[in-house]
Parts: sequence; structure tokens; C-alpha cells
Amino acid sequence: MLPESPQKTRPHRISIAEADRHVGETVEIPGWLYNLRKSGKIVFPLLRDGSGLMQAVAVKSALSEAVFEEIKNLTQESSIILTGKVRKDDRAPGGYEMDVEGIQTVQRVSEQDPYPITPKEHGVDFLMDHRHLWLRSQRQHSIIRIRHTIIKAVRDYFDSHGFTLVDTPIFTPAACEGTTTLFEVNYFDDDKAYLSQSGQLYSEATAMAFGKVYCFGPTFRAEKSKTRRHLTEFWMVEPEIAYATLEDIKDCAEEMILFIVARVLESRREDLKVLERDVSKLESVQGPFPRISYDEAVRILQAHGSEIQWGGDFGGADETILTQQFDRPIMVDRYPTAIKAFYMAPDPERPEVALGVDVLAPEGYGEIIGGGQRIHDPELLLKRIDEHHLPREAFNWYIDLRKYGTVPHGGFGMGIERCVSWICGLEHVRETIAFPRMLYRLRP
Ligand code: 4AD
Ligand code: MG
Repeated sequence: MLPESPQKTRPHRISIAEADRHVGETVEIPGWLYNLRKSGKIVFPLLRDGSGLMQAVAVKSALSEAVFEEIKNLTQESSIILTGKVRKDDRAPGGYEMDVEGIQTVQRVSEQDPYPITPKEHGVDFLMDHRHLWLRSQRQHSIIRIRHTIIKAVRDYFDSHGFTLVDTPIFTPAACEGTTTLFEVNYFDDDKAYLSQSGQLYSEATAMAFGKVYCFGPTFRAEKSKTRRHLTEFWMVEPEIAYATLEDIKDCAEEMILFIVARVLESRREDLKVLERDVSKLESVQGPFPRISYDEAVRILQAHGSEIQWGGDFGGADETILTQQFDRPIMVDRYPTAIKAFYMAPDPERPEVALGVDVLAPEGYGEIIGGGQRIHDPELLLKRIDEHHLPREAFNWYIDLRKYGTVPHGGFGMGIERCVSWICGLEHVRETIAFPRMLYRLRP
């Protein structure tokens, strides 16, 4: 029921985030009931509208009996449009309150089937099953907003440094990152396609056309691992640069990370507070990042009791130990060629190691970026394709890039969810994407 205003005009409709510009005005705010506190003749509906939270104050004596009763009997997550006067109140969450003058209930959630997520503690499985509703809660809100800011920062970084966005296909005819994590799909007339594990191979083609490019899209890995770092569908940003060496790639990765962290600190303080993130840990993320070799990393790990031997890949536990030694991201380069992808250029001085780099985030988070310099010699590339038992015919176009004006080049990929998880200080990547896909989760 909208209140009778003298001019019979509808009050201006605003969002909670705009309240600061409407102090003293009667406005309407459409949203949902987040919580309701009652104290005798006053009730305090807490309204959320996606832009923020605002406490409203409904005083019995100032309202008609019907309106007061309607507000008093609201149920959690009912959709409502509140009308009232905005007042500044430094004690209120968000800094503003509304003195309620009227309400329109769009839908009242039934008591018989109440909103399933209550302020009490729920188990993670329950919350994940109700992910479509869980996204309405404040903490999830903060995470997804920080994700948005990180993605925007990534794009702003590349867009302002001469890169062209060239997105790459999701249906692909062959593997990029090894055949064990491929998702296969039927592609007409008994043909097979694979969901892209990485846009890199195509970005190498577009880099030869545009110089500096990036692609940014969903990527897929049939990872049978149930860890806090693995999703089966994740978003990856992948820059690729013609005429770049391993060192150029490291510089680019470092600059991009510094840009992202600065942006989040500048614009998402409130959300970091909701997440109880220790921001001093983010503030100490300054350049230059320590740069160590795989050999050195193995020595550090062995000194800290890891079983790792030269030649082995780091497990999650190893990355945790390693990154706990530093207060900022570290770059580990020159991993054994044998454990890296077929396209990695070998170090000319020491072919048993590859010109690849991983960036490991601090506080135990581990790898957020993988990349490096690619093989640009056609003969060596063919040899590697055979050694990795990859079908030559599917790579003819890729070999063409080495036949027609080949140059040293490289790039990297950053998994957005791992980056968000680190910046937000989360336990698990599952909360960093609206609808996570994991080994045992395809719903909702
Ligand atoms: O190290 P990866 O496998 O490298 C590539 O795919 C290269 N082709 C990238 C390139 O050079 N253009 O993956 C890159 C990043 C990892 O560092 C990690 O952040 C993320 O992608 N990632 C995953 N994130 C979530 N779940 C998974 N299963 C992931 N696998 C990789
Ligand atoms: Mg990797």
C-alpha cells in the first residue's frame, strides 16, 4: 500500500547505495526482507536490495494499524517495496536509516515453507545445495563483488597496456594441457570435440596477428582431484605476447597482480571487512616479487621436511610450505621439462629445464598463474608433439605459426577463482564463483 502523499505522486525510487544523496527525502526502495527485529511498538525491518543493507524503522504510532501489522508479520526474504524518509545515522550499518511511511508487499514468503537459510550455522553441503539462495547472503555478496572488481581490473590492466582482446573457442579438436583432463563431447556425425582446457594455442595465433593479445573465458579440466584449489570449470585470463621472453612474461604477471591488488584495496575495503580479511597481508604485496628457480624451491622444501626430489611436481602441500616463507607472491621458474606441457621452450643452456614460470600466492595459497616461453622452432615442436602422443593432424595450423614468421613468444594464464580465493582469504575456491562445478557437484 503506497501512502497517500499530498500531490499523489509516487516517491522517487532509489537503491540503498544511493541513500547518501537522498537524506531528508521520502523515497521508495524495492528489495527483500533480510531480517526483522521487533521491540514492542517499533519494528526494524532490515532491507537488502543487492546494492546494500539498510535498517528501516517502523513506529506503530506513526503508521496505520494495517501497515504496522503488515510489516510486523513479514517473513524472511519476502519481496517488499518500502517507502519512507532517509535519515543519516552513523551507528546504522551502511550509515543511513529509513523511517517507514508505507510498504508494498510483492510476495510474502509463507510460514509453511520458510526461507531455508537462517542466520544459524548451516553445513557447507546444505549451503552448496542452496547456492541459488545462498548468493543472497552478505558474505557471498562480498566475494562475488570482489570477483567482479578483480575481473574488471584484469581487463583494465590489459586494455590500457596495448593488448587486444581476442577470445578463443571452447570446442577444440585437441588437448592443450595434457590428455588426462579432457572433457569429451560428441560433435555431429560421430566426430569428437573437447572442451577447451586453455585458450593458449589459439592466442599464440592471434599474438602473431596482433602482437599483444589476451583471451578471457571459461576453461574446463576433468580434474579427478577433490582439493580446495580445483574446479572442473573455471575462468582464465591468458595474455600472449609476440617477441617476448620468459623475463618479459614475469614482468607482465607481476605488474598485473600489483594492479589488481591495488584496485581491490582501493575500492573493496568494505567487502574485505565483511570477509574479515587481514588487509595488511594484501598491503604487503609490493614489487619486486621474489624470483627463484625450481632447483632453489626444491632445496627450500627439502629443508622444511618435504619428501620432494628433483624432477617431481609440487603438490598442494609443497606449495603451501613454499609460500609460507614469503609475504608476497613468488615466481618459480625453470621446472623440469619432463613435467611440463609439450609447448614449453627448453632452456637453451640447460634443456632439461623449461622456460616456464609459476606464480604462487602467499599465505599458503599456491599457484595462481602458470606460463612461460613457447617453443618457436618447428622441428622441436613436431618432436614434442610426437613424444606427447598428440595427433599431428590436429596441430597443423599450430605448426604453421612456426613456418610463417616464427618469433620467440610467451604468455601466461591466471585462474580467476584461485586469485579471488587468495585475495578474499577463503578456505576453498567453491565460494569464488556463483555456481561452482566440481568433481561431485553439478547442481544447482
Ligand atoms: O598452469 P595451467 O594449467 O596453464 C595453462 O593452462 C597455460 N596454457 C596458461 C598459459 O600459459 N596461457 O593453468 C593456469 C592457471 C593455474 O595457475 C590456475 O590458476 C588455474 O589456471 N587453474 C585452475 N583453477 C581452478 N581449477 C582448476 N582445476 C585449475 N587448473 C588450472
Ligand atoms: Mg600450472
